[in-house]
Amino acid sequence: MSTASRQPVTSDPKAMPAHVAIIMDGNGRWARARGLERLEGHWQGYRTLKKIVYAADEMGIRHLTVYGFSSENWRRPEAEVGGLMSLMLRAMKAEIDELAANGIRVRVLGRLSQLPADLRQEFEQAMERTADYQRMTFNLAINYGGRSEIVDAVRAVAAEAASGRIRPEEITEETVASRLYAPDTPDPDLLIRTAGEMRLSNFLLWETAYSEIWVTDTFWPDFSQELLAEAVRGYQARTRRFGAVVE
Ligand code: FPP
Repeated sequence: MSTASRQPVTSDPKAMPAHVAIIMDGNGRWARARGLERLEGHWQGYRTLKKIVYAADEMGIRHLTVYGFSSENWRRPEAEVGGLMSLMLRAMKAEIDELAANGIRVRVLGRLSQLPADLRQEFEQAMERTADYQRMTFNLAINYGGRSEIVDAVRAVAAEAASGRIRPEEITEETVASRLYAPDTPDPDLLIRTAGEMRLSNFLLWETAYSEIWVTDTFWPDFSQELLAEAVRGYQARTRRFGAVVE
């Protein structure tokens, strides 16, 4: 990866965000409000995700990263975890042809070795098949934790230091950034969170250092192309400073 690629792509606030990241929250509450099982909320969340991937592509967003399953989500009831794993397997099998036909690169970020073997294999095949596609990159964070991602990067750098390939004083932010899970994806310009919570929940901790954050009370299953456009307009109305003074 080039060092420059991790910098924000543009400081022009009117530009389309190159990378939008989304914390898709509220599936459970959406279901409960309708007297449905939580898993029904996740299935509806998947339908929404599909719409949003293609809407983002149409809007010219080049990178989309969504939080599908966090490393903390294993603490949920076994039935919900199992249901999410089979949802993801069925969704990936059902969607990969259309994603590929649209030139969308699929990448799964997280510790994949801890996933069920069939799901891991499906993800690996999807990544291999679409690795060269350039129209848009769709990153799915699964068994993902922001701190774990940084730990994994630090381990890689430490191994290089131990073997003498890099000296400690040569280690820079770019050294660490280049060992993250998606080193060729620029940092998110815009982070969207649904269902009203104002936290990062261990998502993209390194990458969101300068991201603009936009929160809606809408539960993820009710999120829409219109709300995505509203978030982008909100982003475009802001002045990004990246730590500098802007007159
Ligand atoms: C958060 O809502 C949502 C999740 C933990 C799962 C997100 C998964 C999907 C939208 C399906 C995605 C499909 C693929 C292929 C990745 P929550 O359950 O925390 O809702 P709550 O806060 O209201 O309980």
